[in-house]
Amino acid sequence: MGIRTLAQLPFAGKQVILRCDLNVPIKNGVISDDGRIRASLSTIKLLLDNECSIVIIAHLGRPKGEIKKELSLEPVAKRLGTLLDKEVRFSSEILGLRATTDLLKAGEILMLENIRFLESETSKDQQERELLANELATYGEVYVGDGFGAVHRKHASVFELASLLPHAAGNLVVAEVDVLEKLTKSPDRPYAVVLGGAKVSDKIAVISNLLDQVDVIAIGGGMVFTFLAAQGKEVGKSLVELDLIPTVKELMERAAEKKVELLLPTDILVAHEFSESSPPTLVLTDQIPTDQMGLDIGPVSAASFANAISKCETVFWNGPMGVFEFPNYANGTKAIAHALTEIKGMSVVGGGDSAAAVRKLGFTDKQFGYISTGGGASLEYLEGKQLPGLVALS
Ligand code: 3PG
Repeated sequence: MGIRTLAQLPFAGKQVILRCDLNVPIKNGVISDDGRIRASLSTIKLLLDNECSIVIIAHLGRPKGEIKKELSLEPVAKRLGTLLDKEVRFSSEILGLRATTDLLKAGEILMLENIRFLESETSKDQQERELLANELATYGEVYVGDGFGAVHRKHASVFELASLLPHAAGNLVVAEVDVLEKLTKSPDRPYAVVLGGAKVSDKIAVISNLLDQVDVIAIGGGMVFTFLAAQGKEVGKSLVELDLIPTVKELMERAAEKKVELLLPTDILVAHEFSESSPPTLVLTDQIPTDQMGLDIGPVSAASFANAISKCETVFWNGPMGVFEFPNYANGTKAIAHALTEIKGMSVVGGGDSAAAVRKLGFTDKQFGYISTGGGASLEYLEGKQLPGLVALS
């Protein structure tokens, strides 16, 4: 699918409505990882260099149509201002802003409050979304879609709004799509995908689709226990999605048929409680005590995953291997991140969580081939789905 790029859109000197994904982790107003804000800078700077004025639309969390103070984008506007070293104005109102936006001058930026404070942004009713999009369209002359992390959402500011104005994808979306296209169309082989994170339900479709494309799939994180349970193993108090056991069994059979190497951990760090202070015990995956839960893959598994990764030319990784926020359970994730930094071919880290994890663990973006800002978006792309936000920009 050919998306329209900024080279195809006369945007110089225009008022641009820019959809970004600025969904960053914030606690008590403090941003712990500003990766997504930094990733938006390339397009914003290009627009400023071309005498544009910019109205930024973005979301934070899932407020479901309610105003939630802790999900205000105000701290994000401040951080963007610091990164750009210029004023970023902030509007706590989203609707009825025409009089304000009409007065914006070249080089000025106005960020609107969390667009998901309005129910119509995420409404299932197309007419409601269109109504909002019509209002938002009056705030600018052209639309630039650069919120890659949200392109899998059929939301008013991602989908409907794009079609109401001359539009193009921003630099971030173009870069993300380039990488994902390479992964799906012509990955250098061997190609490994490492998946982690809590829920297997989020990853079933992507695993199923990847079985036709990859040489190795390594699985860690909370989702691993549904695989172990499917092998008939005791998983104690670990996270399991019982209803998915038949599907997981089927996936394992298909992997065997297709000769895809499916790597599961053989050792696990377990604890009595889901707590930072709960001390870890190392056990084999077929000896998980009934009263404990797995919180990280063990060192033998981490080494075996790292060894498989080291033989690959292409590696895509999404989802932490354990509860990396707790130092005792961060080593599996650290080992995988390190293994990715060592390969000579292309390494891609996908997902807001995984990107935040590698930075929190002390790695820098430059150590990886590419760090995607899209979690769900990149997985859905790899699932082979059409993403509404990309369709709208094509
Ligand atoms: C993300 O964090 O992956 C994106 O910002 C999309 O968020 P959502 O899953 O709440 O739509």
